[in-house]
Amino acid sequence: MDLFEHQAKELFARHGVPVPTGKVATTPEQARAAAEELGGRVVVKAQVKTGGRGKAGGVQVAEDAADAEEKARAILGMDIKGHTVHKVLVEQASDIAEEYYASYLLDRANRTFLAMVSREGGMDIEQVAATNPDALARVPIDPLTGVDLAKAHEIAVAAKLPERALDGAAELLAKLWDVFVKCDATLVEVNPLILTGDGRVVALDGKVTIDGNAMYRQPDLAAFEDSSAADPLEQRAKELDLNYVKLDNGSVGVIGNGAGLVMSTLDVVAYAGERYGGVKPANFLDIGGGASAEVMAAGLGVVMSDPSVLTIFVNVFGGITACDAVANGIVSAFHLLEERGERPSHPLVVRLDGNNADEGHRILDEANFGFIERVDRMDEAADRAAQLAAQEA
Ligand SMILES: Nc1ncnc2c1ncn2[C@@H]1O[C@H](COP(=O)(O)OP(=O)(O)OP(=O)(O)O)[C@@H](O)[C@H]1O
Ligand SMILES: [Mg+2]
Repeated sequence: MDLFEHQAKELFARHGVPVPTGKVATTPEQARAAAEELGGRVVVKAQVKTGGRGKAGGVQVAEDAADAEEKARAILGMDIKGHTVHKVLVEQASDIAEEYYASYLLDRANRTFLAMVSREGGMDIEQVAATNPDALARVPIDPLTGVDLAKAHEIAVAAKLPERALDGAAELLAKLWDVFVKCDATLVEVNPLILTGDGRVVALDGKVTIDGNAMYRQPDLAAFEDSSAADPLEQRAKELDLNYVKLDNGSVGVIGNGAGLVMSTLDVVAYAGERYGGVKPANFLDIGGGASAEVMAAGLGVVMSDPSVLTIFVNVFGGITACDAVANGIVSAFHLLEERGERPSHPLVVRLDGNNADEGHRILDEANFGFIERVDRMDEAADRAAQLAAQEA
């Protein structure tokens, strides 16, 4: 989960990382009030989860409250790399003497954490890394010892930060490590990290990515979740605890058990779809190994409510949970859905193979649902599903 700058700064502040005082505004009038409260010069900053806001005109200095209102009016509604600006951060303008760069991240390639700090901040760090790699210090962090003040000092020195910024930077870097660890982040990035005219080191920007798998133990961060931006189907699937991903431009709903099987199902559907004018899978949905009737019904419910779905391909391999159990799950799922009045309006193709497949087929045939077609081989089932989707279109 990526955070907005203002959320990142809120976390920074909670952990003692110095940030400018600021307020969020969703209207020009609110921006004016915020600027009045802050007093003096302010900076109005677009809150979108993408970089390059400055270059796009999404970060503007305002001389006074009236100016802040005007700047907010210009920035709100702006499109920055496909992200519409719905809110701005109005914050005190800092007196910038120098701009640096600092980040902590999970270094998967080296199986460790990494601190990256540079004296050349404010600009694209990728560019610094490419053109002047020596200017970017990369310091591996031992996860067991982390970053204390001494280690933070070592990092600041490695980055060749000037003498007068060392103490402030070290203090900030140690606290930023707290944010990284305590919030289960996979990235915290500050660009720019600034030295002010009066010698303080402050985080002027903030980018934080929280490990989605750790959200269950970060109840405080749940409030930061931006459900308005989420796909409504994905949101619903998430509430039902389903592993569902909506795919663009697809018409074959896919349900399978096991992530690997579902991934390959997407491939065979897309492959078969080429014979029918480019029919594509509409989603990824893994209902897991157990595939109980409830989970199957929940999954079918989500996929069926996707308006772009014209046919559904249920591809199940009976393993530890044998095919007869899965078939019973499918049958009960449709009875459950029927009770809820959610009869499928499009044909379904079901392929059931593996342990106890014959018994599974018998159960499905006996249930005699008119909207289900049983096709026992995966490639043929994918082909039939793609064909049906093309016919329904
Ligand atoms: N509170 C502030 N006071 C003074 N200047 C600021 C403030 N916030 C941002 N700036 C200036 O605006 C620049 C861009 O801001 P920021 O880094 O937050 O946006 P960005 O999306 O990373 O922009 P870009 O990618 O274009 O650099 C900063 O490098 C800094 O010079
Ligand atoms: Mg920045």
